[in-house]
Amino acid sequence: MVAALLAVTGIAFYLVGALTVSMVGSTMMSSRTNSQIETLNALASVLGEKSNVVSADEFYRQVIEAARRNGGRLLVVDMNGKVTVDSYNERNGERLTEAEIYRVIADTESQAYGFYRETEGAETIWRGHYASALLDADGHKTGALVLVTSIQPLIDALGMLRNRMLMIFGIALLMVAAAITMVTRLMTRPIRELSEGIRSMGEGDFTKKVRVKGHDELAQLAAAFNQMEDQVRSLDETRNQFVSNASHELKTPLTTMKILIESILYGGDMDRETRDEFLGDINREIDRLTGVVTDLLTLAHIDSRKLTLKREELYFGDIVRESAERLMPMAGKHEQNLTVRIDDECEMIADESKLEQVCYNLISNAIKYTKNGGEIDVHLVSSGRDAVLTVRDNGIGIPEEDIEHIFDRFYRVDKARARTDGEGGTGLGLSIVKQIVRLHAGTVTVSSVVGNGTTFTVMLPLMNASEGGV
Ligand SMILES: Nc1ncnc2c1ncn2[C@@H]1O[C@H](COP(=O)(O)OP(=O)(O)OP(=O)(O)O)[C@@H](O)[C@H]1O
Ligand SMILES: [Mg+2]
Repeated sequence: MVAALLAVTGIAFYLVGALTVSMVGSTMMSSRTNSQIETLNALASVLGEKSNVVSADEFYRQVIEAARRNGGRLLVVDMNGKVTVDSYNERNGERLTEAEIYRVIADTESQAYGFYRETEGAETIWRGHYASALLDADGHKTGALVLVTSIQPLIDALGMLRNRMLMIFGIALLMVAAAITMVTRLMTRPIRELSEGIRSMGEGDFTKKVRVKGHDELAQLAAAFNQMEDQVRSLDETRNQFVSNASHELKTPLTTMKILIESILYGGDMDRETRDEFLGDINREIDRLTGVVTDLLTLAHIDSRKLTLKREELYFGDIVRESAERLMPMAGKHEQNLTVRIDDECEMIADESKLEQVCYNLISNAIKYTKNGGEIDVHLVSSGRDAVLTVRDNGIGIPEEDIEHIFDRFYRVDKARARTDGEGGTGLGLSIVKQIVRLHAGTVTVSSVVGNGTTFTVMLPLMNASEGGV
C-alpha cells in the first residue's frame, strides 16, 4: 500500500521533471536558434549586397570582422556549396554537404539550421549550423552564409537543470515517503491495537484493553471491543466458577457414598441394622446427586435457550395449594405451622410443572431456613394485572450483604450450617426460580431481616392482563 503510493508519487515526480526539462530545453533552444537566424539574416543581407561591390579581400575582411563580433565561425559558400570564405581559414575550397546548407542553396528556403555532435580532440561537443541565403544587390541568390557555433553550454545547462531536478525530486520523494509512512502508521495504529487485542483474546487473555481516543468510528469500535472483552471475561469467570462448583457438588456425594460402600465391603462383620442405615445414607446421597444433576440440566436447558414453556390455561391457586400440600410433611417434621391462603385463583397461561418448581423451591426454602416451630405463610392474591404470590417465614433471615447474591448459582449464605441437618441444598434453587419467573415475564423479589424472617414475592402476569382487564 505504502509502496504503491510511493511508486505513483515517484512516477508523477519523474513525469513532471522530464516534462519541465524538455519544455525549458526546447524554449531555450528555439530562442537561441531564432536569435542566431535573425543575426545571420541581418549579416547575410549586409554582406550579400557587398559581395559583388567590394574586393574579395575586403569582403573576406568584413566576414572575419562579422565573425569576431558575433562569436563563432562564419563561412560563405557559393551556389555549389563550395567554401569561398572561412573565418577559421581551414575549409576554403571544400564542398560542404550539410543538409541545411544544401536546402538553402538548392531549394527555395532562405534559411535553415541543424545540430551536430562533433568530436574535438578528446571531448565531444554539440554545434549548431545555421545557414542563411546570401543575396546580391539585385536580389539574386549567390550562395549561403553559414554560422557554426557551439551549443554545448546550452546542453550542459540543460543537463545540470535535469540533475538538479532529479536531486530535488529525490529529496522530495524521500520526504513524501517519510510523511506517508508516518501518517499511515498513525492512522493504522488503532486497527493494529484492535487486532492485537482480538488476537490475545483469542488466546484466552482478556486483560488487554484497547486505547480509546477521540470519538470517531474507530474509537467507538475500540470502546465496543473493550466492553465485549469485559463481558467475555466475566462470562469466562462465571463459567469457570460454575464448573468448579458443579464438580464440587457432584464430588461430595460420590465421596460420601464411596466411604459408605467401602465400610460395607471391608468393614468385616456388620450387623444388619448398621448396614441398612448405611444403605439408607447411600440412597439419600443418590437422591441428592439426582437432584443436583436435574437442577443443572434445567439450568443448562434454560441457558441454551432451547427451553420452551408448555403453556396452558391454568389456575395458579391450584399449583400453590398442591405444592404446599406436598411439603406439609416436611413442615410437620419441623413442627412448623404452614398456612396457605388463596384469595384469588389467578387464571393464567403458563407452564404448570415450571410454576410447581417455583412454589416448591420457595416453600421448601422457607421450611429449611426456619427453626422448628416457626411460622410459614403462603399467600396468593391478584393485584392489577398480576398474580402476587408471597412466601413468608419467621426464620433465620438473610444478611443484607448476601441478599444480592442469593439468586446466583450455587450461592448459599451459610454453607456449613445448611449442610448439617441433611436438608442443605446446593444453592441452585433460587437461580432456577428466577429464570422460570423471567421466562413467564414476571418478577421475583426478596425482603429479609436477620433473625426475623424472610418474604419472597413472585409476580406473574394474569391471563386477562393483555386484554387490559383488572
Ligand atoms: N427463606 C429463606 N430464609 C433464609 N435464607 C434463605 C431463604 N431462602 C433462601 N435462603 C438462602 O439463600 C440461599 C440460596 O437459596 P437456594 O434455594 O438457591 O439454594 P438452596 O436452598 O441452598 O439449595 P437448593 O435450593 O438448590 O437445594 C440458601 O442457601 C439460603 O442461604
Ligand atoms: Mg432452595
